[in-house]
Amino acid sequence: MANIVAIGVQWGDEGKGKIVDLLAPEVDVVARFQGGPNAGHTLVIGDKKTVLHLVPSGILHDNTLCLIGNGTVVAPETIVEEMNTLIRAGIPVAQRLKISDRCQLILPYHRALDVAREIAKGKAKIGTTGRGIGPAYEDKTARRGIRLIDLTSNDLDAKISENLEWTNFLLTKYFKTDAVSRADVDEVLDLARERLLPLMADVSLILQERHKAGDSMLFEGAQGTMLDVDFGTYPFVTSSNTVSGAAMAGLGIGPAMIDEVLGICKAYTTRVGAGPFPTELYNAEGMNDAAGKHLAEKGQEFGATTGRPRRTGWFDAVVVRHAVRVAGVTGLAVTKLDVLDGLSEVKLCVAYERNGEYLQSIPADAGVLNECTPVYETLPGWAENTFGLTDMAQLPKNAKTLLDRIEEVCGCPVTMLSTGPDREHICRL
Ligand code: IMP
Repeated sequence: MANIVAIGVQWGDEGKGKIVDLLAPEVDVVARFQGGPNAGHTLVIGDKKTVLHLVPSGILHDNTLCLIGNGTVVAPETIVEEMNTLIRAGIPVAQRLKISDRCQLILPYHRALDVAREIAKGKAKIGTTGRGIGPAYEDKTARRGIRLIDLTSNDLDAKISENLEWTNFLLTKYFKTDAVSRADVDEVLDLARERLLPLMADVSLILQERHKAGDSMLFEGAQGTMLDVDFGTYPFVTSSNTVSGAAMAGLGIGPAMIDEVLGICKAYTTRVGAGPFPTELYNAEGMNDAAGKHLAEKGQEFGATTGRPRRTGWFDAVVVRHAVRVAGVTGLAVTKLDVLDGLSEVKLCVAYERNGEYLQSIPADAGVLNECTPVYETLPGWAENTFGLTDMAQLPKNAKTLLDRIEEVCGCPVTMLSTGPDREHICRL
């Protein structure tokens, strides 16, 4: 199989977990390259559902090596808890998982700062997952971050003291909240030393060796292009690059190691957290359009990490077209098509209008995007059931028309179609 980067091309939660889980047994290596425990994908282990935030989806497969790259931010307690769940289920995690020596650790003071900041922002908050993602990436670029390799260094004590002094100054003096204790931080560092150091590796080197040996690879993205720190709805974004380019910097590989970029999107749009969402129809704050409610309820749109209800709306082709360009997407995987079953009509946003002008691409300014209204094409819906279909030829005519139109307007072929939650519910080209 070709080496594939799989990324979300909307605002996250596109169903990447299912697609990656589906592709994982077909590759030799699965590698995460950005993000941290803000992501979440549900796996069924035995008959029990488990949400994994950091461990890559390939972990259930005997012959798949799972790697966590330098571009990620890792919370030791979270990954150890996931490892324990997997070990209890009989999965030999230690043989299948390696973590980059260069990845950044999320420590208790990052989470405290994330939460304090959001509270202080009040109505203007970003709606982060509260997992300390932003502060951990800030420390990385400010060159005071703690990397996994630092657990082996004699300087660690002094670095932690300095970081804690600075963060506690902010927490207590500026945000007027509780300080984080050194004992809490040390407890996490001890856990990381005991459980993560044995898995530490030079991930870039492993990838290069595996590539030379002819192994196939899947590079697993988290969040989505509209949450990318450069190309998303800044500042309502996450703190990492989520585009395909991040796979290279986040793993230490070159572009020649990437053959395809799979862009995963729902047949409609959802978003959690604050920020512009031009095609929004339904949310917990009072938007109550009937079609949006249908999408939220039938699509069971609640966040896997935070449990928050997701905002829902029509498919936005301006968003996906933007992702196809900035991330070089070569094929789209459209998920949750079955959620549209039973709607009398479906809409596709093909452009925006603002002050009488048409926009074909996403404006850089979130304030301007907020003032955009969608220009819709309305297509007839279908009454037939698409749930579980495995062959595109079986699709109702109107569903096929919608997909054809998505391909045309986004400028990218649809190469996969997901029609239900199970691995078997898939049409592949
Ligand atoms: P952070 O990544 O926790 O800093 O959150 C920043 C923004 O990204 C918020 O709007 C979050 O709701 C959103 N976000 C972060 N991770 C995910 C994800 O995996 N799915 C969907 N939204 C996410």
